[in-house]
This record gives sequence, C-alpha cells and structure tokens, in this order.
Amino acid sequence: MTETIFVTGGAGFIGSAVVRLLIETTDYNVVNVDKLTYAANLSSLLPASDSPRYTLEKADICDAQAVNALFAKYQPSKVIHLAAESHVDRSIDGPAEFIQTNINGTFVLLEAALKYWKGLDDASKGLFRFLHVSTDEVYGSLGTEGYFHEEHQYQPNSPYSASKAASDHLVRAWHETFGLPTVITNCTNNYGPYQFPEKLIPVVILKILKRERIPVYGKGENIRDWLYVEDHARALWQVVNEGHLGETYCIGGECEKRNIEVVQAICNLMDELAPDAERGKARDLISFVTDRPGHDQRYAMDIGKIRQELGWSPAETFESGLRQTVSWYLENRDWWQAILDSRYAGERLGTGQKQAG
Ligand code: NAD
Ligand code: DAU
Repeated sequence: MTETIFVTGGAGFIGSAVVRLLIETTDYNVVNVDKLTYAANLSSLLPASDSPRYTLEKADICDAQAVNALFAKYQPSKVIHLAAESHVDRSIDGPAEFIQTNINGTFVLLEAALKYWKGLDDASKGLFRFLHVSTDEVYGSLGTEGYFHEEHQYQPNSPYSASKAASDHLVRAWHETFGLPTVITNCTNNYGPYQFPEKLIPVVILKILKRERIPVYGKGENIRDWLYVEDHARALWQVVNEGHLGETYCIGGECEKRNIEVVQAICNLMDELAPDAERGKARDLISFVTDRPGHDQRYAMDIGKIRQELGWSPAETFESGLRQTVSWYLENRDWWQAILDSRYAGERLGTGQKQAG
C-alpha cells in the first residue's frame, strides 16, 4: 500500500521544496497541512500539485480537532513538521503569533501524533516517524571562533528563536517521556527559488531590480552560513528515513559569508544578468541602516554528524546556488510581483517600533 506523509507548512519556502522533492522522487502520497498565512504560496507547488498523490489540507496546526481528524483520515506513516512563523524581524514587531504557532502549534501536533501513534499496530508503530524541522538560531550567536553542533547549549536571542527552542524541547520531551519516534534537525540559513521577499537574498534582488536602496543592517558584518534550499530538502528526506530516534542532526552549507559579501555577490550577478547601464552599478544602491535589535553576530554549523552517519553533504556551492536563485527571480516575475502587490511591498520590518504587545 502507498504510504502517506504529512508535510506541515508545505506551502512555505522550504516546505514547498520538500513537497516538490517528494512528488518528483518518491511514491508517497503527500498531504500538505498548511494554514495558508501571508507566507504561503500555492503557486510554489505548481510543479507538484497536479499529481494525484498530492493533497492540500488547509488547517491550523493549533486546531486540535482539525489535526486529530487529519491523522484519522490519512493515517500517515511520517510527518515532516515545518509549519511555523519564520521571520525574525516579524517576531520583533509582533511575537504573539510566534508563540502561538511555533510553541502551541507544535504541542497540538505532538499530542495528535502521540494519540494516533498509540493506536497503531506494532508494525506501523515501528515505521512511524515525526521529524521536527528547526533552526541553528536556537544556539544563539557565535564569536569569531567555533561552530554550532548537536551538543551546543541553547541560547536563543530573538522571540523567533526562543519559540523554536521551546518547540525543540517539547519534541525532545515527547520522545523521552512518551516514546514518540521523533527526530530533530537544526539548519542554517536557506536560500533559493520561491523564498518570500522579506528575507535578505530576495530583498536585495528585488531592490536592485526596482533601483531602490538596499538596506544592510548595521555594518553588514554579521555572518550567516548559507544552504541551498533543495539541499536542505534532500537532507530532511534522508533524516526522516535514516535518522536515529531521539537524535538531533545539524544541517548547514559550510558556507560562511558576511552579509555585505552576500549583498556584493548579488550586485555583481545582477550587473551581469540584468544590467542597467543608464541607472548605474547595483552596488551604488547599498545603504547601511539601523541594526536589528538583538542581532546575532555569527552562525556557522559543524555538519560532521549528518555527513558521517547519513552521508549527506551540500551539492550546490554558494556561487552555483546564488546564480540559479538570481536567475529564477529574473525569470519568475509573476511569482514575486503578486506578493509585492498584495501582501508585502518591501517596507522595513523588525525595528521594534510596531511592537503589538
Ligand atoms: P515560511 O515562512 O516560508 O513558511 C511557513 C509555512 O507555514 C507557510 O506556508 C505558512 O502558511 C505555514 N504556517 C504558518 N503558521 C501555520 C499554522 N498555524 N498552521 C499551519 N501552517 C502554518 O517558512 P520557511 O522559511 O519555509 O521555514 C520552514 C521551517 O523551517 C520553519 O519551521 C523554520 O523555523 C525552519 N527553518 C527555516 C530556515 C530558513 O532559512 N528559512 C532555516 C532553518 C529552519
Ligand atoms: O539561521 C536560520 C534562520 O535563517 C531561519 O531559522 C529563519 O527562519 C530565517 O528567516 C533566517 O533568519 P535570519 O534572520 O538569519 O534571515 P534574514 O534573511 O532575515 O537575515 C539574514 C541576515 O541579513 C541577518 O543578519 C539580517 C540581515 N538583513 C536582513 C534583511 C531582511 C539585512 O541586512 N537586511 C535586510 O533587509
């Protein structure tokens, strides 16, 4: 019988890459459980959503009744849990949704999964897996030396990372206390096609296209470790199949860059792929703006465990991944223009001035 997998948050940036991968490369029935918030884009799923093996269930993971009903209806053998509020700047302006979805939503999902799992026969119980997708930001900020790794202490600094840290702890507890077969991944910054234009890389591409100032927070010296989104999707599929129960796997691109280096690389690519001789070089648009409150200085991941235990490593280099990404945004104007016109026009977020309380 064909197995069924739940992907929560499957209409988001990483979730849609996971759904596309599963439809393209596996025989699974894929059920996308998504509330369809501002961050969701059903058009990101077009390469997969025609498949008879794909189903969308519009549901809020905080709604216990709805989530219980979905487990009863579809009887999944795996869950990849990505649904979350994901943008650090928005968590500064309004943390409430982050607490609700990332913490309470994960709790509701764990309770529903546990209830469902307890009712399975022994063979199905043994097969079942719950993969919780989390972030390197739970570990806080690094100085100039060292790397995050699976045993690193938790020290989240933003409302977003604190809510993700809480959800990681809940998942761990549901495994240790109730025996739910869970695995956790903590990954670094993703980039690639279909990323909502609030995150650094699409922000820069679209500001250059519109010849608007490129907002670089602080001095642009903060460091992130970049991973191409399709490499992340492959890692998640491997971890849900081969990861050891109760364990954490750290995922990253082994690709540390200062923000200003990322911005300059995009400027160079834009000057090459979409030159605008009349209006000048893209890098003339760079503008240093007020820093993000609580801005973590450096993220960098040691991926030794997933490389050695599961044989996963990133396939894309930053150069190849960034070129594909810039080209994708140039070729897919309809995708992002619809967002700019209706949901987010590129205004500065995360100054803390709009704190909703
Ligand atoms: P995203 O913001 O692009 O998408 C989130 C998706 O979750 C959206 O489709 C949204 O509609 C859905 N969602 C939000 N609240 C929901 C709710 N209450 N019920 C059901 N669905 C809901 O996020 P992303 O960047 O794709 O990140 C996905 C996951 O990966 C998140 O858990 C995030 O913490 C984690 N992560 C992201 C990155 C990154 O660089 N983007 C890196 C590491 C980990
Ligand atoms: O590290 C993993 C995390 O990466 C994920 O858990 C989050 O979901 C994801 O949003 C991302 O968080 P960041 O805060 O690192 O990503 P963002 O794209 O918002 O910012 C990247 C860096 O660029 C950060 O140092 C802030 C800076 N920045 C960001 C924006 C949007 C700017 O300088 N200017 C900008 O306009």
